Amino acid sequence: MPQGVNLAGSFTLPGSSHSVNRMGYGAMQLAGRDGNKMVWGPPRDVEAAIAVLREAVASGVNHIDNADFYGPHVTNQIIRKALFPYPGDLVIVTKVGALRGEDGSWIPGFSREELTAAVHDNLRNLGLDVLDVVNLRSMFSVQQPAEGSIEAPLTVLAELQQKGVIRHIGVSNVTPAQIAEARRIVPIVCVQNHYNLAHRADDALIADLARDGIAWVPFFPLGGFSPLQSGTLSEAASRLHATPMQVALAWLLQRSPNILVIPGTSSLEHLRENLKAATLQIPAKVLADLDAVSTQDAAVPIARHE
Ligand SMILES: NC(=O)c1ccc[n+]([C@@H]2O[C@H](COP(=O)([O-])OP(=O)(O)OC[C@H]3O[C@@H](n4cnc5c(N)ncnc54)[C@H](OP(=O)(O)O)[C@@H]3O)[C@@H](O)[C@H]2O)c1
Repeated sequence: MPQGVNLAGSFTLPGSSHSVNRMGYGAMQLAGRDGNKMVWGPPRDVEAAIAVLREAVASGVNHIDNADFYGPHVTNQIIRKALFPYPGDLVIVTKVGALRGEDGSWIPGFSREELTAAVHDNLRNLGLDVLDVVNLRSMFSVQQPAEGSIEAPLTVLAELQQKGVIRHIGVSNVTPAQIAEARRIVPIVCVQNHYNLAHRADDALIADLARDGIAWVPFFPLGGFSPLQSGTLSEAASRLHATPMQVALAWLLQRSPNILVIPGTSSLEHLRENLKAATLQIPAKVLADLDAVSTQDAAVPIARHE
C-alpha cells in the first residue's frame, strides 16, 4: 500500500491471513453501458473501467468485490486485464449462486453442477488457481433475504474448499437463520447483505457478527440503483464540508469495526471522492442525527465500539 495512505484501517478475515483495508471497491458498476441497470454486457469504455481498477489498487484498495455473473464474465475479465498479475495482498471476493438468463434476468444456480461450473468460471476468467473468498448468494428471493435451507449448496462449496480451489467462504442475501445454518457447516468469514444509512433491517446482526470477528460487507452502501437521498444526509455533508456519499460511507465505517465498505463506481472522480471518505470523522452529534435517518422500522439503537 502507498505510504501514508489511510483506508480506514484494516480487518483480518477470521481464521485467515487476509488483512484488508476497510475501504474497498465493488466492481459491479463496471458491467453494462451507462444507465444500464441490468449489469449486462461490456462497459461503454473498457479503458476507463481499467483505469478505475488500477487507480483503486494504486491508492491502496486491496479488497475488490465481484461476481462472474456481472456481465456475465465481463467484470472478472476486466479485473484480470487491469490487474493481472495481482498484487500479493489483493483479496478478490466473488459470488456464486446466480445465473443470468438470455434476457439479463437473475436465475438461481444452486445445483452441484451449476455451483462447480461457477467456481471454475471465476477461476478461468480471473486467471487464478484458487479463489480467496467465495460468497454463496442466496436466491430464494432475488431482491431480499428469504428463508430456505442453504445446506446443500453450501456443502458443495465446502467440498470445493476441501479440494483447494476456494480458500474462504461467505454468504450473501441471507437471514440470521441461514447464517447460523451456514456456520454449522463451514467457517464463514463474511456476510454480504443490503445495508446502508437508510436500509437497516440487519442492524441487530452486525453486533453479533462483530463479536465473532466476521466481516459485514454491505452491498448498495450508497443506495445502489437508487442513490441515497436524505435532507439529514445533505445537511451533515455541508456541515462536514464533504459530499453526501462520503458521509454515507464514513457513517458505515464508524458504525462498527467489522464493516468493510465496497462502494461501486465506474468513475475515477467518484472513486477519488469515495476513497477520501476513509478519513472523514463524523462527530457524535451528527452521527446521532444520521442514525435516525433509517426508513426501516426494524432499526434498533446502535451500540458503537469507539
Ligand atoms: N451480494 C449481492 O447481492 C450484491 C448486490 C448488489 C451489489 N453487490 C456488490 O456491492 C457493490 C456495491 O454496490 P453497488 O455498486 O451496486 O451500489 P453502491 O455502491 O451503493 O452505488 C453505486 C452507484 O452510486 C454511484 N456512485 C458511486 N460513487 C458515487 C459518488 N461519489 N457520488 C455520486 N454517485 C456515486 C455509482 O455511479 P457511478 O458509476 O457514476 O459512480 C452507482 O450508480 C457492487 O459493486 C457489488 O460488488 C452485491
